[in-house]
Amino acid sequence: MVFVSLVFVAAVAFAVALVAVDLIGRLPRREPIVPPAADGPFAFPRGFLWGTATADHQIERAQADDWTVFERRAKAEGKQDRIRKGQMRPGHIGDVVATPAEWFEKKTDFDTHFDDDLALAAAHGHNAFRLSISWARLFPRAGMTTPDSDGVAFYERVFASLAKHGLQPSVTLFHFASPQWLWDGTDAQGRRGLESDDAVAHFAHFTRTVVDLFGAQTRHWCTLNEPMVWAVLGYLEGVFPPFQRRGLPAQINAVVAQLLRMHAAAYHAIKRGRPDAEVGIAHHVRHFVPWRNRSLLDRITAKGVDNGFIVDFLDAIETGVFRPALGGPAVEIEGLAGTQDYVGVNFYGRFYVRTSGPGKFEIVPHDPSEPGEEESDVGWAIDETSLAPQLVRFAARYKKPLYILENGIADAADDDVSRQRFLVRHVQAVWQAIEQGADVRGFFYWSLVDNFEWIEGFAPRFGLVNVDYAHGMRRRPRPSLAVYADIAGKNAVDAALWARFRRPPPSSL
Ligand code: FCB
Repeated sequence: MVFVSLVFVAAVAFAVALVAVDLIGRLPRREPIVPPAADGPFAFPRGFLWGTATADHQIERAQADDWTVFERRAKAEGKQDRIRKGQMRPGHIGDVVATPAEWFEKKTDFDTHFDDDLALAAAHGHNAFRLSISWARLFPRAGMTTPDSDGVAFYERVFASLAKHGLQPSVTLFHFASPQWLWDGTDAQGRRGLESDDAVAHFAHFTRTVVDLFGAQTRHWCTLNEPMVWAVLGYLEGVFPPFQRRGLPAQINAVVAQLLRMHAAAYHAIKRGRPDAEVGIAHHVRHFVPWRNRSLLDRITAKGVDNGFIVDFLDAIETGVFRPALGGPAVEIEGLAGTQDYVGVNFYGRFYVRTSGPGKFEIVPHDPSEPGEEESDVGWAIDETSLAPQLVRFAARYKKPLYILENGIADAADDDVSRQRFLVRHVQAVWQAIEQGADVRGFFYWSLVDNFEWIEGFAPRFGLVNVDYAHGMRRRPRPSLAVYADIAGKNAVDAALWARFRRPPPSSL
């Protein structure tokens, strides 16, 4: 009898295995990209924000921050490397040898061009502009309690120009660079920089200062830009300052927790000064796609990376508890729960997750064998079709308004057809998300003008406007500036624009 039941159980198990193998075998190699069938026009809600995004360190003249120290050293030592983030060696910058030192010192020379840049944006239908305030420009030296008067005067001029041109500011407080003095010593536990004991208090003081100075001129605030990118590239991959390679994802949990503390402190500082402010973060969102759809390990790992890189941080802000999906104990953070009024999304397409064993994986930015997949000049796979599902997912999960705080492409071509196509398709994807119930309130293209692209240096060109660095940083609009003006001016992607740039159905590839 026992023997008969064993045979029966084995037979059932065998049949289940056969069905599973058959089902997995029938899975497509990848989920196909399905372009939308609608013909347009695609109109946006009234009051929608149309703008561009930028960051102080990428456009303003050099300040006493950690990145400036890094760039000067890389330049002096000629530490140049290939321009792929994952492949860069710590302390290196793309094209650093050929790049004149002056470019690093001036970046796009926003200091003298800001009024012209903002006038250009306004003349092309923009009604908003995302910028960041340099912490090091306001507090260049340790121990300062009142901000530097030149720094204050500079931003006063910028805010006056924003107002003059009718551009609603969205203000970011931490966009990767921080004052060098924070990194010079160590605390009692031997921690440096943003990890040290008093970093949160310093950031809160900086935030209060900005709120006192400019709080009357903006409602829209972003405490941190892409905290997970900063933590992963700085403490795991070791290519951003402070160039650490801690090993396992769980070993950066302390850094992530500290960023959450900084966010909470800044949120409360802003709200205390300006109760009606809208505060959130700009979160780097990718669609993490399993390299092989049929590999269970790729699928599970892609889900884990999505949780660890995207969901955990936003969930922590909602619940007040950081529960790291990629290992390590939960951390409760005082004052964190419920500290976002909107979800800010920086969207740059899809990345693949390829495993080579349990816990061993790499992130692949583009798969040339994927039919019809385009890559940008920095090698990132373009996929606007995964934007709407991400927005709809966040809308359902967090029940908050959403803003696209960055979305852009590196395309150096003069005719920038890839950028025009990219822009129209992504904006249409935002419209789809709104149609499906997501409360998206604004779109900021990255970026108005070409700028310094961190470890990739000056080669990647993200601008609607070309910057001629060698000739007085002259600005030359690319055709995409007019395409974006058409969208912003009509508050819609009209049918003609859509017909020009829509993604062809897969059969016609
Ligand atoms: C984002 C950063 C931004 C810029 C773009 C291209 O990850 O937030 O500063 O470098 O990428």
